[in-house]
Amino acid sequence: MDDDLTTRHHDGPVDASAAAALAAQGLELRLVRNARPELDAWIGAVRRGFLDPEPTEAQLDAATARNGYRRMIGVYDPAGPMPEVPVGTFASWATDLTVPGERTTPMVAISAVTVAPTHQGRGIARAMMEGELRHAVALGIPMAGLTASESTIYGRYGFGPAVAATTWRIDTKRARWEGPTAPGRVDHVSRETARALLPRLHDEVRLRRPGEIPIPGSHWDRFTELHPDADKPGRVRAAQYADPAGRVRGMVLYTVTENEDDFTKSSVRVSHLVAVDAEAYAALWRHLIELPLIGTVTASELSVDEPLLWMLSDQRAAEITVSDHHYVRVLDVPAALQARGYDTAGAVVLEVSDPLGHSSGRWLLEAGADGSGRVRADGGPDARDIPVLRLGTAALSTAYLGGVSVSTLAAAGRVESTDAAAAAAVLGHRAVPQLSFWY
Ligand SMILES: CC(C)(COP(=O)(O)OP(=O)(O)OC[C@H]1O[C@@H](n2cnc3c(N)ncnc32)[C@H](O)[C@@H]1OP(=O)(O)O)[C@@H](O)C(=O)NCCC(=O)NCCS
Repeated sequence: MDDDLTTRHHDGPVDASAAAALAAQGLELRLVRNARPELDAWIGAVRRGFLDPEPTEAQLDAATARNGYRRMIGVYDPAGPMPEVPVGTFASWATDLTVPGERTTPMVAISAVTVAPTHQGRGIARAMMEGELRHAVALGIPMAGLTASESTIYGRYGFGPAVAATTWRIDTKRARWEGPTAPGRVDHVSRETARALLPRLHDEVRLRRPGEIPIPGSHWDRFTELHPDADKPGRVRAAQYADPAGRVRGMVLYTVTENEDDFTKSSVRVSHLVAVDAEAYAALWRHLIELPLIGTVTASELSVDEPLLWMLSDQRAAEITVSDHHYVRVLDVPAALQARGYDTAGAVVLEVSDPLGHSSGRWLLEAGADGSGRVRADGGPDARDIPVLRLGTAALSTAYLGGVSVSTLAAAGRVESTDAAAAAAVLGHRAVPQLSFWY
């Protein structure tokens, strides 16, 4: 990510139209500085929005130390009894989204969207979202992304569920290991060692996996329970896999819960597993499946196509649920489509309608045999034998990372095409997208 873009995104002024729309209701839209005490009220409002208790001093200190990367805005009601506490909150930062073809594109990541229950239904969330998307567009950032508390909130702004996640519950008494035996070794390591190594391992993996973004440092602190406000620090165990040459190729963080009625039915919750190669993947999952005294292993934010399923003696030992996870939003069609790679050469005309106008238009995408894409505005219908795809921005965003086939979307009535199979061949991608955390 270009540092200059990161700074311009972080420090740019609030959107004037959003500020004017809110001012018409007597509300003020402001940037929030990452400093106490100004940040305290903002953090308190975010926690209230997500049904958490009031922040403690330790949480406020930790938040100030770890929040700097986020651009924070707040909506304030000067007429209320606590004018210093925002009634609307929104955070974002410029980051890199991995797209098909082992490439990345700039993306604005959005989080902490809350509106006080006393002020809901007045267009505050809409004003913040529309304003912040305009800010990203003005900086030339072609994509936006978020993970959502509810599936129904963000489609209206052009976001589409592009990366599904699976949650696993494995009955380890039933599932014998039938995967490969890795030649290296698995060892427990300290949480501090894990904290030091995990970002590098994740960076190596995320660049191969559409849908991932860099994991902010504060998340790593939480995963390893090295965050100063951790509830019960020390529950997390870390284990690494090192190959025969001694290179660390994977790491898992997990929490054990003892079953005092029957020790052999204790459970493990995997908080994060990163494997740079197939050996590390097999070794770490085997470690979890064969842990003594453990009857159940649960894990979430896995992909919809995990080799793990094929490493168990009994597939029904794993209960797997699928849900929508990473929502993305195309803001700039040519920049986004040219940023990704293509497995299949071909051409598609895209007729895109955008509820907010940013990506509306008729575009010709030509994918070359070298995997690159070229996009230009297209003049209109003619006699060429090129499939035409008519779709809203949310559907385009869903298809963008290659996780859902355009044929499937056509069968579901989400897109219209003169030749959905041909369009699907161009826009599809061999790698299964994944986002291994929430943000
Ligand atoms: C979701 C939330 C931010 C919406 O705030 P809000 O200011 O009431 O929303 P707005 O008044 O701007 O509504 C904008 C649109 O979203 C719709 N909407 C609002 N909340 C919704 C919800 N929970 N589910 C589906 N749609 C919702 C509104 O009907 C409105 O639709 P329209 O403009 O297409 O007619 C707010 O309810 C909230 O803070 N919820 C709890 C925290 C949370 O879940 N945040 C989202 C984190 S991902």
